[in-house]
Amino acid sequence: MTVRAVVKGVGHYLPTRVVENAEFEASLETNDEWIRARSGIERRHFAGEGETTSSMATAAAQAALDMAGLQADDVDALVVATSTADLTFPSAATMVQAELGMTRGFAFDIQAVCAGFVFALSNANALIVSGQARRVLVIGAETFSRIMDWSDRSTCVLFGDGAGALLLEAQDGNGTSADRGILSTDLNSDGTHRDLLYVDGGSSTGTTGYLRMQGNQVFRHAVEKLSKTATTAMARAGVDSADVDWIVPHQANIRIIQGTAKKLGLPMDKVVVTVQDHGNTSAASIPLALSVGVARGQIKQGDLLVTEAIGGGLAWGAVVLRW
Ligand code: UT7
Repeated sequence: MTVRAVVKGVGHYLPTRVVENAEFEASLETNDEWIRARSGIERRHFAGEGETTSSMATAAAQAALDMAGLQADDVDALVVATSTADLTFPSAATMVQAELGMTRGFAFDIQAVCAGFVFALSNANALIVSGQARRVLVIGAETFSRIMDWSDRSTCVLFGDGAGALLLEAQDGNGTSADRGILSTDLNSDGTHRDLLYVDGGSSTGTTGYLRMQGNQVFRHAVEKLSKTATTAMARAGVDSADVDWIVPHQANIRIIQGTAKKLGLPMDKVVVTVQDHGNTSAASIPLALSVGVARGQIKQGDLLVTEAIGGGLAWGAVVLRW
């Protein structure tokens, strides 16, 4: 018997304010055509007044709990992947714990920027497989609109806000790739690339800072590293591209998504794509895509999924799971 972390619920939250590409044309030397052609982004959601990473995370988590038919106190651990916690501390996760009315268990944040959800899934899986938790809420939530330099056209048109959540539960499997649940994970980082993507604030400056990115340099790393980590994770799970029903990639750029799918030998009709509607929501993008993919009727129970992401650090990784 093998313990597997199986998805029992999924949910998401998007702020009501939608900003179309054309809205940037009034304040920046940019246009809808450039943004669409270079990134695939058409619109994004921005958090409104009073909306925070933790409030959006709470809404997404509640939706995942509702789908699973569970209460907050049925959960043993709560993990939030975010780089935009409401405050430097306490963690966004403990704020969500309180908002959900969860009076037991433990909660903590994971910070691996755009790869955060893959890192959080892998750690949640480890908690379940090692017997430290039976049910874990894994949430990705971000308010990148609050760390944008609105005068920098090379970054501020790319990012958006939102949150997504999964409820994972321990279930017995047979130890084969036919099991439901997380089948394998692969995590990587290389801290020598810190200048490619970072926020120029924190405890060293006493400011919150703004996101800085050499986008074309990050792009250069993305397709190769993403296809390699996905291939490694698939080999670990004992599956290959022909077995995959859906790639659910980090949604940063349609050209990265297409390039990675091509390298993995998978057609675009096996890829869940939300980048046009959400922009890059960093750690929230994969759980948002999972939730939207289920709502659209794309992802169904028993499907084999590969998620993959890369971001600041650089940090990157992949998770193979059967839905
Ligand atoms: O999620 C975390 C990881 N992040 C990513 O994966 C992002 C990866 N990178 C990308 O998605 C792409 O590199 C971008 C979408 C950021 C940029 O696309 P690109 O094809 O790599 O363009 P580029 O950075 O090489 O810039 C091309 C030109 C430049 O002008 P010159 O130097 O050729 O005259 C930029 O100044 O486009 C210019 N440019 C813009 N023009 C209109 C940059 N931003 C804009 C803009 N509107 N918003």
